[in-house]
Amino acid sequence: PVSGRVSLVVNGEGRTATIDNRTSLLDLLRERFGLTGTKKGCDAGACGACTVLVDGRRVNACLTLAVRLEGAEVTTIEGLAPGGDDELHPLQQAFIEQDAFQCGYCTPGQIMSGIGCIQEGHTRSPGEIREWMSGNICRCGCYVNIVKAVEQAAG
Ligand code: FES
Repeated sequence: PVSGRVSLVVNGEGRTATIDNRTSLLDLLRERFGLTGTKKGCDAGACGACTVLVDGRRVNACLTLAVRLEGAEVTTIEGLAPGGDDELHPLQQAFIEQDAFQCGYCTPGQIMSGIGCIQEGHTRSPGEIREWMSGNICRCGCYVNIVKAVEQAAG
């Protein structure tokens, strides 16, 4: 396999790694950088558990080749609350207040996708939020409260 070197910014911190060119952003984050908040569900672009922001846009990290991200800014669930548990991101707080999870496995991806949804302005109605969050599957079926949490954080 061909190796490549990639330097990118993850949650505001410069990181460099030499990786097999086939490495996904998801595996780079989890296996090399120890950022296991981003979850691997299907590893095939179908569930949204691995959603992160790349240069402000949401992507499925399992479908994104890490070597193509030279110079990119990546934000994961670990980068949302610089104040730790005392100062959560407004969407993290909304997920707690709206009881928007059960097992929690999909939650990091739901939250990152919700941030993208809010930034893109797709929050004018519950139906619009449902549509633009439709790439994020929740096996526990917490969709009603997930939509409420995104609505709350969108203001
Ligand atoms: Fe990436 Fe399911 S793990 S979409």
